[in-house]
Amino acid sequence: MFFRKKKERPNTIQVTADGPFEVSGDFAVKGREPLDHAFLCRCGASKNKPFCDGSHQCTGFKDDGLSGKQPRVAEIKPVGRMTLNPVDGGALLVNGPHQVLSAGGEIIHRGETSVLCRCGNSARKPFCDGRHAQVNFEN
Ligand code: FES
Repeated sequence: MFFRKKKERPNTIQVTADGPFEVSGDFAVKGREPLDHAFLCRCGASKNKPFCDGSHQCTGFKDDGLSGKQPRVAEIKPVGRMTLNPVDGGALLVNGPHQVLSAGGEIIHRGETSVLCRCGNSARKPFCDGRHAQVNFEN
């Protein structure tokens, strides 16, 4: 019998312009079933957090998604299980091998951990700068 090896899809968090994170690969949002594709809110307005419900289109959320490059891009293969943990009133914690792509497709982070903004207020989007505490971000 012949078994074809399952194709490895890199864990990728794609920033979309004025919109959500498009997440693909092998991942689970903490406390939920594993997924291979999802849109997660990064504007802070979704009524179905951590998932995007399209509210960003009504709130006028603006971020071109082209900035925020991290100083170091690790030379790892972004495959294997990734866990996304939306912290109550806080950031989106990412654990496991992954890469973050700007809205323009540039790799702006690759590594085992990252802390992403999901309140929409960080000055260094897509990464968290702690501003969720100042705006009393709620889930
Ligand atoms: S990014 Fe779509 S609802 Fe927040």
